[in-house]
Amino acid sequence: MIPVRWSSVRLLALAAGLAAVSAVPAVAERPSLLPAGWDADIKLAEAPDRNPDPGIVEIEIVAKLAEVEVAPGTRVTAWTYNGGLPGPLIRARVGDRLIVHFRNELEQETTIHWHGIRVPIEMDGVPGISQPPVKTGETFVYDFVVPDSGLFWYHPHVMSAAQVGYGLYGPLLVEEPDEDVGVADALTIVLSDIGIGPRGLLEPADSGGSAGMVFGREGNHVLVNGRVRPELRARAGVPQRWRIVNTAKSRFFFLDLEGQTFIKIGGDGGIQEYSERKDVVLVTAGERVDLIVMPMGEPGGEITLRSLLYNRGYGSIEYRSVEDLFTIQFTDEAPLPAPVLPEMRRAIVPPAVEGATPVTMQFTLPPVDGKGESEFRINGVPFWKAEPFKARIGETQFWTLDNQTPWDHPFHLHGYFFMPVDEAGVPISPMEWKDTLNVPMNETIRLLVTFDERPGEWMIHCHILDHADGGLMGTVLVGDVKPSSHHTHVPPR
Ligand code: C2O
Ligand code: CU
Repeated sequence: MIPVRWSSVRLLALAAGLAAVSAVPAVAERPSLLPAGWDADIKLAEAPDRNPDPGIVEIEIVAKLAEVEVAPGTRVTAWTYNGGLPGPLIRARVGDRLIVHFRNELEQETTIHWHGIRVPIEMDGVPGISQPPVKTGETFVYDFVVPDSGLFWYHPHVMSAAQVGYGLYGPLLVEEPDEDVGVADALTIVLSDIGIGPRGLLEPADSGGSAGMVFGREGNHVLVNGRVRPELRARAGVPQRWRIVNTAKSRFFFLDLEGQTFIKIGGDGGIQEYSERKDVVLVTAGERVDLIVMPMGEPGGEITLRSLLYNRGYGSIEYRSVEDLFTIQFTDEAPLPAPVLPEMRRAIVPPAVEGATPVTMQFTLPPVDGKGESEFRINGVPFWKAEPFKARIGETQFWTLDNQTPWDHPFHLHGYFFMPVDEAGVPISPMEWKDTLNVPMNETIRLLVTFDERPGEWMIHCHILDHADGGLMGTVLVGDVKPSSHHTHVPPR
């Protein structure tokens, strides 16, 4: 293997192919079938692209405190990107180069991690492993190519549970110009929550101590693109595409549209093998889903998207209620007769099981110690005592994630997609590239992953960020690189 830097290879390829890329005609724009301003209540601000080159998206992101209004009259000073909650929607096309001029105006150091993007390690945003932390007043330039289409997101990797919980997250949508799902009206939806205390201040990130860590703290205000229970306007029956990301640090969303059908066409890594009809859709922390819906109802009536109770461990259904996410107010027009949509399919070649190196990761939670503290462990050790897992460039591994704890863990791998194989022995179908996958309590999931030509030390962790900070984290050393000294880190207490 010649040790070429992946980033420079991609950039050269991009420079050579740029003219061709921009010459490809986009799929004919379909006219919107919905009233003007139908999504005004939740439309996300976009980061303006200041680079005239069509193959480069160049933006500015500033992390800073800002007062946001999550519901009429409910304001809180959150930690934000560019003053908004969530941070701005970054929009790019597959193969674009993304340049982000980042400045930290917070009082704490931070970074940006590009969740799900196959970046080179230098751009992965993990302090002490892939870059130094960005201190107060400092800047950092993130510069990489976005090689895959799909909805991704960005967030810090410093004190993640605290910083994400306080509001630092935003969506990154990478579009494939030739992809046609047959739907004109689309939403990018960021689901999250935030904890606001009685005096209108952010709830401390360590509330509830060790028990709070084990549960995974949820905010008391559920947000849809930063708003509590926003309203959309739509004509009944008009198909809408909803690309949804769950950026909450712990909360799961279990979507129900009053029993109406969702067509799931994709997720973390873009379009899936074939689409599926679903009555409910689970989106665990860090995951994305790509849905087509045709909300039906009486002209002038309304329906509500809700998050049903889902048991991810003790405390997630006890004394809890169903959450309203947003309502759709129907116009007076007669419902649109059911449209014919193209069948979405994608040929996916999974990594080969034959010859794959078996790796087992056991998640455990020992009983609390004498001081009432507890920690999550992978193969018997919490993150701060762990040695990295190892992989060779080009190697395919067959991972068994054995969750022996009574809590679910949405497991995330940085920098690579993986292919889920089976859950509790039952094959997973349709095939879908994932970077975040829920491992339910007391269950085992197996997956295949191939480590391509991007050497480095890549993180694995539970995306319930309290669990990650509580020990459920590790790294994989890909290729012949030196491990960082992360294992000397002290527990975050
Ligand atoms: Cu969104 Cu280390 O993760
Ligand atoms: Cu977890």
